[in-house]
Amino acid sequence: MLTKLWTPDSWRGRPIQQVPAYPDPAKLTAAEDKLRGYPPLVFAGEARRLKAALAQVADGRAFVLQGGDCAESFSDFTANIIRDTFRVLLQMAVVLTFGASVPVVKMGRMAGQFAKPRSSDTETVGDETLPSYRGDIVNGPEFTRAARVPDPARMEAAYFQSAGTLNLLRAFATGGYADLHEVHRWNLGFVARSPMAERYRDLAHRIDETLGFMAACGMTSASTPQIRETDFFTSHEALLLPYEQALTRVDSTSGDWYACSAHFLWIGDRTRQADGAHVEFLRGVKNPIGLKVGPTTAPDDLLRLIDALNPADEPGRLTLIARMGAEKVARLLPPLLRAVQRDGRRVVWLCDPMHGNTISTAARLKTRSFDAILAEVRGFFDAVAAEGVWAGGVHVEMTGREVTECVGGAHRLTEADLSRSYETFCDPRLNAEQSLELAFLVAAELKARRLPVVERPAVAAQ
Ligand code: PEP
Ligand code: CO
Repeated sequence: MLTKLWTPDSWRGRPIQQVPAYPDPAKLTAAEDKLRGYPPLVFAGEARRLKAALAQVADGRAFVLQGGDCAESFSDFTANIIRDTFRVLLQMAVVLTFGASVPVVKMGRMAGQFAKPRSSDTETVGDETLPSYRGDIVNGPEFTRAARVPDPARMEAAYFQSAGTLNLLRAFATGGYADLHEVHRWNLGFVARSPMAERYRDLAHRIDETLGFMAACGMTSASTPQIRETDFFTSHEALLLPYEQALTRVDSTSGDWYACSAHFLWIGDRTRQADGAHVEFLRGVKNPIGLKVGPTTAPDDLLRLIDALNPADEPGRLTLIARMGAEKVARLLPPLLRAVQRDGRRVVWLCDPMHGNTISTAARLKTRSFDAILAEVRGFFDAVAAEGVWAGGVHVEMTGREVTECVGGAHRLTEADLSRSYETFCDPRLNAEQSLELAFLVAAELKARRLPVVERPAVAAQ
């Protein structure tokens, strides 16, 4: 591929998918100009810190938990919603840390996850056809002609909501809410309530003992910041490029360009064309970035994309997020893993067990089955283990609330239960209990699959 000069707007000369049809270009330009003058939402130094943490993952020394809403929404913007999702992510992270015996890098699909790719440009209900809903940063979810007109002013609203969300997340992460002992106590509450308590009690008990032992050794919240505080990063799909470009800044310490709408941005499965606008935009910013890898990805195309996105083979720069579907993962993932291994590329591999497992109910609601989600995670672990690749982590759509959007789990939600509390603006999410169950089951798998300590490859001292 010809490497041409990159500028924050060089994507504008490339073919582009998933573009909203803004009726008033002058209004769009005015909104972009306004955003360009606003402060960045994240600082380049934070993005570099995340990249360093992801380099540890690429090296087999850490695990990633990335999760949150499919789509954040303007109408669901409250402290409680942010708190509950953050809390469940922390609860999951504690369990996974224990299972994987390595640090867990925590990334929310939060504080900016507003733009949605759609499989069709239009939606038809009865005999009316309207433009599809593309996320609150573009248009409104209501099925009316007025709501579905893309409005550039929504970008500013998304910016301010992201700023408010990020502010609270930073406060929770360092202000005492994320204390490990507290998080573990919440997990004990979850285990006590779960119909599958027997299955989870042993792991919870062992974490309990470990924390007790650490406290006895003097490692308490008061003495040890790592117990009291946590690092929490934000991420979203870099889909709406006018917004992303307007929030791109030169970092004064390095002179490099950073996307400053979040720490980590990814390219979706529908916009990963090697010569396309989204790949062009993300190749030039220095943030750690992700690439969704779906069932139609050919090994050669993947290598070409890696060349474009991480030409210097910098560990931590590129995370591949596989989303094959439970039934396809065993067949489609190994050739991709092999191609990347053969070329010696240093990437992180994550498993997104959500997007390949979306089904439609008889009542035409989108859902996912807990069993299919777990089966894809297991298929991913099997595939990476067979190829000698480190299982870098999981990427899930979840919420801290007790919604009923995915079927299955310990509470055995059925299709008939879905209408009770089906609140998502886009894809079905795991609820709080289902998310924790997934974490307990994944942690148990990781623990069982770990080599005995004596057989683990030696890690060179730094
Ligand atoms: C998403 O992560 O919400 C999404 C749309 O995923 P994908 O691009 O993998 O379909
Ligand atoms: Co989704």
